[in-house]
Amino acid sequence: MKLNGKVALVTGSSQGIGQAIAIRLAQDGASVVINYRSHPEGAQETLRQVQAAGGKCHMAQSNNVDATIQADLGQVSEVQRLISESIDRFGQVDILVNNAGLEKRADFWDVSEEDYDKVTDVNLKGVFFAAQAFVKHLKQTNRPGKIINISSVHEELPFPHFTSYCVSKGGVKMMMRNLAVELGPLGITINNVAPGAIVTPINKNLLEDKEKLNALVKNIPLGRLGKPEDVSNLVAFLASSDADYITGSTFFVDGGLLWNYQEQ
Ligand code: BGC
Repeated sequence: MKLNGKVALVTGSSQGIGQAIAIRLAQDGASVVINYRSHPEGAQETLRQVQAAGGKCHMAQSNNVDATIQADLGQVSEVQRLISESIDRFGQVDILVNNAGLEKRADFWDVSEEDYDKVTDVNLKGVFFAAQAFVKHLKQTNRPGKIINISSVHEELPFPHFTSYCVSKGGVKMMMRNLAVELGPLGITINNVAPGAIVTPINKNLLEDKEKLNALVKNIPLGRLGKPEDVSNLVAFLASSDADYITGSTFFVDGGLLWNYQEQ
């Protein structure tokens, strides 16, 4: 299996895309650290499926190490604790998947400082300092590593009423490009996976609104929303040694949404 012997930390893996990624990386042989903020029961469900996927090859997972770690990615001290606890429990981390994220809808003129901070603290600052703590660990142990950020089509595409979200995802795009250059000489790769509309809890409101949902699906050339597995398949590839020469790129998983412009 491609990820045997590797330890992967997936932030925000108690639900949605993060949960699918944790399970998929376990299926490929990785030991997985599951992070959650406020859904311990979701993290337990991920753990159950990770263990089911991994069987005996998961040394750390079968040795009574608690693989779930509570931490709020919006606070730098918690981010740093998450990385150091992961290393303490598993001995190393080889793959960091920065997945945790949130969005808040509001007209631009109504956005509060509190909501702006909530979004950018997790989606941008949290990613920055998780990558930093991970890189320090790799430097100290003199090992290569892989960083995969779960970004969004909205690192490119405007999303009216979600400006703070676009600010964060656009920031993660430039962070990734910068770090590809700076970390390349250390043997550390970094790429973004940019999902479009995927069936996950972040889309709850949209999924419950038939009219909005139909309008969105009409904009997707492949004619459907994505599944979390559509994203996790790509993450598994980028986390493997098959992707050793790939760094500094964004990969869209959006059914063609991003470039869909047509005149009727
Ligand atoms: C957002 C969703 C949105 C999708 C497509 C994602 O990044 O989280 O709310 O539906 O992009 O626009």
